[in-house]
Amino acid sequence: MSFVFGLLIFYPCSLLYSSLAPTKCLLSNGRLLSTDSSKIDEPLKVEEAETISSPPPPTEKLLVLGGNGFVGSHVCKEAVAKGISVSSLNRSGKPCVRESWADSVMWHQGNLLLPDSWKDAFNGVTAVISCVGGFGSNSQMYKINGTANINAIRAAAEKGVKRFVYISAADFGLVNYLLRGYYEGKKATEAELLSKFPYGGVILRPGFIHGTRKVGSISLPLSIIGSPLETVLKHAKPLTGVPLVGPLFIPPVNVVAVARVAVRAATDQVFPPGVVDVHGILRHGDQK
Ligand SMILES: NC(=O)c1ccc[n+]([C@@H]2O[C@H](COP(=O)([O-])OP(=O)(O)OC[C@H]3O[C@@H](n4cnc5c(N)ncnc54)[C@H](OP(=O)(O)O)[C@@H]3O)[C@@H](O)[C@H]2O)c1
Repeated sequence: MSFVFGLLIFYPCSLLYSSLAPTKCLLSNGRLLSTDSSKIDEPLKVEEAETISSPPPPTEKLLVLGGNGFVGSHVCKEAVAKGISVSSLNRSGKPCVRESWADSVMWHQGNLLLPDSWKDAFNGVTAVISCVGGFGSNSQMYKINGTANINAIRAAAEKGVKRFVYISAADFGLVNYLLRGYYEGKKATEAELLSKFPYGGVILRPGFIHGTRKVGSISLPLSIIGSPLETVLKHAKPLTGVPLVGPLFIPPVNVVAVARVAVRAATDQVFPPGVVDVHGILRHGDQK
């Protein structure tokens, strides 16, 4: 009995379809599907069909940590140019630059080492790019490159952020030992990112980054040295594997390329998660 009842539920149209008169069947959306049994060999014709409205594309809301720094300001500029909604978090807030991109960014003032000063900055954010890092004593370097970024990764994971991009640094062998706090902080952040964002975490590992760096009112044209070195060294990849001196052959990379790859990694859902080394940055950075 229940079998027969099931058939009636699942196949009402086919039962009606086999009757002689043209029939009409009520669809779940309340509309009528009309069939004409005299043309039984023709494919079923649907007189009316509901238009399936796909949801609008998600609106990206990008938070740049350290958006007033050398790399961070180029990241903000790139994202604003792409029409993305951008906010930034750093200790000093909005920088004193008279450039239009800076007016398009929403600036939060906060210290990543003091979580109470910035938690709201992550509200509604879909992607984060962290450009926070720096130098000092070993313990200061660990805090700024490690602890500050780890705090940010944990807050982003709690708030349901989808993608998190971290600007780390290339492995420079012996230099790593001299700048222990810097590299240990970077490694701790990388480990936290891979564990909290296994599918949406991207780590960029540039070597020296060149471009025009603003220090107060002075502009330092780092590309005068960086650009020719990049041109030569990007073809010397096998030499980077030479023990001890290999890291000297890591090519510098332009800040614009780093920014471009970071924004793409943060907003392109098919950008693969994991580590992107200098050569990967150069390759992705060349793509328009
Ligand atoms: N430049 C290079 O050649 C190079 C090479 C390889 C890797 N990297 C890495 O790339 C990243 C960016 O480098 P960069 O040269 O752009 O550095 P930067 O110019 O010194 O910028 C650092 C940014 O971090 C912010 N910041 C520092 N401490 C903070 C804290 N506790 N809370 C919130 N914000 C904080 C700073 O803003 P406030 O001072 O206003 O807080 C600033 O915006 C760093 O992780 C760096 O290690 C740089």
